[in-house]
Amino acid sequence: MAIPFFSLDLKLRDFLLIIKDIFLPYDKKGHEKKLKELLKDRYPDRYISILPSARLGFYLSLKFLLKKDDEVIFSSMSFPLYIKIAKQLGLKITLVDVCEQNLNIDYLKIEHKINKNTKAIVATHLFGYPCEIEKIKNICEKHNLLLIEDCAQSFNSKLNNIETGNFGDVGISSTSLLKIPTTLSGGILVTKNKVLSEKIDEWQEKYLKNNLTLKFQLFIKVILSILNSYPKIYSILSDKIFNFLIKYNPRIYRKVLYSGMGMNDLPYNPVERPRLAKYQISVGISQIKRCEEMNKIRKKYSEFLQKSFKDNNNIIVINDHYKEQWNHQYFVILIKNNFDKVHKEIFNLGIHAMDENVWDCSKYNFNIENVNDSFPVTEMVNGKLLRIQNNSFLNEKNIQDILEKIINGNNKI
Ligand SMILES: Cc1ncc(COP(=O)(O)O)c(C=O)c1O
Repeated sequence: MAIPFFSLDLKLRDFLLIIKDIFLPYDKKGHEKKLKELLKDRYPDRYISILPSARLGFYLSLKFLLKKDDEVIFSSMSFPLYIKIAKQLGLKITLVDVCEQNLNIDYLKIEHKINKNTKAIVATHLFGYPCEIEKIKNICEKHNLLLIEDCAQSFNSKLNNIETGNFGDVGISSTSLLKIPTTLSGGILVTKNKVLSEKIDEWQEKYLKNNLTLKFQLFIKVILSILNSYPKIYSILSDKIFNFLIKYNPRIYRKVLYSGMGMNDLPYNPVERPRLAKYQISVGISQIKRCEEMNKIRKKYSEFLQKSFKDNNNIIVINDHYKEQWNHQYFVILIKNNFDKVHKEIFNLGIHAMDENVWDCSKYNFNIENVNDSFPVTEMVNGKLLRIQNNSFLNEKNIQDILEKIINGNNKI
């Protein structure tokens, strides 16, 4: 039996809500208000916008807050599509290397890269682990820069008891199909800037159409993702297809997995997704209510995995899963030697873990300002990172199975 690289943790109640909301799609505004009220506990002094994706929030923030030729600092391990979006809006990009411990931006290296044209820093809380956001905030205040937090992976992660998203001028979480909590595609933008928040809401009102074809396509994707969350169904539906692709056409396999990361040549289209449907908002409300419960399970699994890999010579666990206050959304290991072979072995044993080789933004043709700089830490880890399934939907037996197969796969090489 194969274990899929992601699973949706939905309850029977969520399925009933989905069916109900599809047939009774009324009072969507009331649902949106309820979702915002729940979020208000996390972001007490922020304006909140609910979006069809985090990327749209990012695009609109840059569009409304910056102007052509402004420079923006990103970590060299950022979400590639965000840099593409910034370039599309005529901005200039400078990259800063990451720290070895958590692969987040190395705040000690930021100030050397600031010049009179620098206007913003994008701080990505990579793999859900909070970056040194207080220190970065201080740098931004000192140099009068905007701080945009990429919280796409860090919902429910905190630093000194303050949730990520509350530090910057803007914080953007993703609630896409692959994220926790999920609205089955969507994003949440929080900001103290009332004007920005109003502009974003007006833009959505004006430009996002109620496109039924897009909504239907998303619905089919949701159904397939729900079915594929069950290892037994995944083994029948998708296992063989992925096995075939990874063996005979790894390029297509990579395209399928990372289709949303901006690696193709097309420009980003801000109206690519419709506004959230009522059923998506209902699922979001349910997910946020269950956030702590799901987090606890992930922490338990990740502690177990971290402990089990402790003495392995070839596997290093990225981030500390014993540490409280973060969401353990990603369990990433670094495979020191023979990454490709080990990954393949693990895959053949049925553990469809995700090759996280997409983050090194110095490797794309983004025409960055500091093209001659090197990013030694990024370079060192790129192509060696594997994301292991760690989802509250899986049971302890699945996690035990994942562990055994990774150790066996690694030992075979
Ligand atoms: C770090 C990071 N930033 C931004 C995004 C974009 O989120 P969305 O897919 O909701 O636009 C993602 C999505 O995978 C991400 O992982």
